[in-house]
Amino acid sequence: MKKLAVYIEEVLKEAFKACEYDENFAKVTISNRPDLCEYQCNGAMAAAKTYRKAPIMIAGSVVEKLQDCPVFESVEAVNPGFINLKVNKTFLADYLNQMLEDSRLSVEEAKNPKTIVIDYGGPNVAKPLHVGHLRSAIIGESIKRMGRFLGHKVIGDVHLGDWGLQMGLIITELSKRKPELVYFDESYEGEYPEEAPFTVSELEEIYPTASGKSKVDEDYKNEALEATLQLQQGRRGYRALWKHIMEVSVNDLKKNYAKLKVDFDLWMGESDADAYIPNMVKYLKEEGYAYVDQGALVVDVKEESDTKEIPPCMILKSDGASLYNTTDLATIVQRMEDFHPDEIIYVVDKRQELHFIQVFRCAKKANMVDENTKLTFVGFGTMNGKDGKPFKTREGGVMRLERLIGEINEEMFKKIVDNRSVKDENAEKTAQMVGLSAIKYGDLSNQASKDYIFDIDRFTSFEGNTGPYILYTIVRIKSILSRYVEEGNSLEKGEIHEAVNPSEKSLMLELARFNAVIEPAFEEKAPHRICSYIYDLANAFNSFYHETRILGEEDEEKKKSWIRLLTLTKEVLETCIDLLGFDAPERM
Ligand code: ARG
Repeated sequence: MKKLAVYIEEVLKEAFKACEYDENFAKVTISNRPDLCEYQCNGAMAAAKTYRKAPIMIAGSVVEKLQDCPVFESVEAVNPGFINLKVNKTFLADYLNQMLEDSRLSVEEAKNPKTIVIDYGGPNVAKPLHVGHLRSAIIGESIKRMGRFLGHKVIGDVHLGDWGLQMGLIITELSKRKPELVYFDESYEGEYPEEAPFTVSELEEIYPTASGKSKVDEDYKNEALEATLQLQQGRRGYRALWKHIMEVSVNDLKKNYAKLKVDFDLWMGESDADAYIPNMVKYLKEEGYAYVDQGALVVDVKEESDTKEIPPCMILKSDGASLYNTTDLATIVQRMEDFHPDEIIYVVDKRQELHFIQVFRCAKKANMVDENTKLTFVGFGTMNGKDGKPFKTREGGVMRLERLIGEINEEMFKKIVDNRSVKDENAEKTAQMVGLSAIKYGDLSNQASKDYIFDIDRFTSFEGNTGPYILYTIVRIKSILSRYVEEGNSLEKGEIHEAVNPSEKSLMLELARFNAVIEPAFEEKAPHRICSYIYDLANAFNSFYHETRILGEEDEEKKKSWIRLLTLTKEVLETCIDLLGFDAPERM
């Protein structure tokens, strides 16, 4: 459906033209003075310079042409030359009725759907998921859902960190603890056991132990480096161990992501890119993009317009080992081969920005992607504790994701049980749903690139700009609708009529804005725009609700109109929270 502002702009263009002014001056925006008007056009101010006339004269003549226009309730020229617009109530009601009929709630499908790979998650195998990976998962999942809603083909890839030193460290530590394992016997040629020689919890203990040792013991570290290299070069026993490590931890990761309602299409990782490295290196050398500098193979990526030094992108270390750059570049080669995407989006900690600048420039310069392939870095800020420092457990350790989710759910559970007079069997499940909204909304309502403070008390509150407040609003609507049905009525059919009071009109205007929010939110990869929209929408609904006796209304037509308005409000809110990656329970 055409956006409401576009309808308005079109009539304004006609009016500008009719007055012999350029139609390009007829730009319409939502009003920044809702006390005075709903939409506004400031074009007369800009036109004043071109036509050497007072802006109020221009505004005045445009306004005159619009006096009988069915789109407006009122059109006014005010000093020094603003055009203030109020939308006609019938026109607005018609617009909402069309939204109700539209299965996409007014949001148009992309005319040129793109294939987009989104790289988010990025957990490191064998290391427990911690809050640092939470943001990537939450933000990436939302961007993925927005893209799909707009009709793009979006492929989510977890891009596991499964090929680095942590693997060598685990292998080294295991070789000390259980040297008798067949994996360490280089002469062994038989099949390896199917069962892993460790459990998840053992694995999670082995890694930090090994990592600790490597920091104080040079020999140990060298052994781990050597084991990493041998793994990458294909030593059989190590590959078999690697497979066990992968299986055990990927299973565990899947469980954790499922709890977050985060779902990847691909469970690929750095290791999958390995096979692409030799050809890529050969290509970069042969085509003259890469050269050897102090033993290392590098590609220059600095550009004239740079204001800070961008160091060359290192492809291979002097010992021939590959690096983070190398796997990311090889992964681009792989993704181009597999999907030929129009865009690859990376949702990663903003401290990795330089890395991505280097990788993107190298990929473009060496024509590893098409000229119009977009490479987008969505860098997010740090999640801090109330003390403003990176989030930790109360004891000061790294907060594991499972524990964080557990603490939130517990808090939610308490609140929900306190609210109940009767015992609720679903309280635990409800607490999980509301808890997830608290975490996700708490994160997504901030601009991704900013650091933010993770404040459990605030995030779990039913009041204010929080996930639970949004869910509470949805649950309130659901309960009105189900009471209406219990009274023997149907929710289907029926028209939304003209607003009867200002709070109803405000709610209607918010609803009509939906399509104007979703498109730019995706273009800007900005879920926070959806959050601020649903916060406004929920507020508009709650004001209307407090001023209106809906079910008590005697005029059945009027009541039906409100029920339809509530139905639309519920659908828009539910669509939005689905785009953010959480759901509403039936009651709270
Ligand atoms: N595993 C990395 C980390 O924990 C994040 C990976 C991000 N994605 C990428 N393609 N580099 O820092």
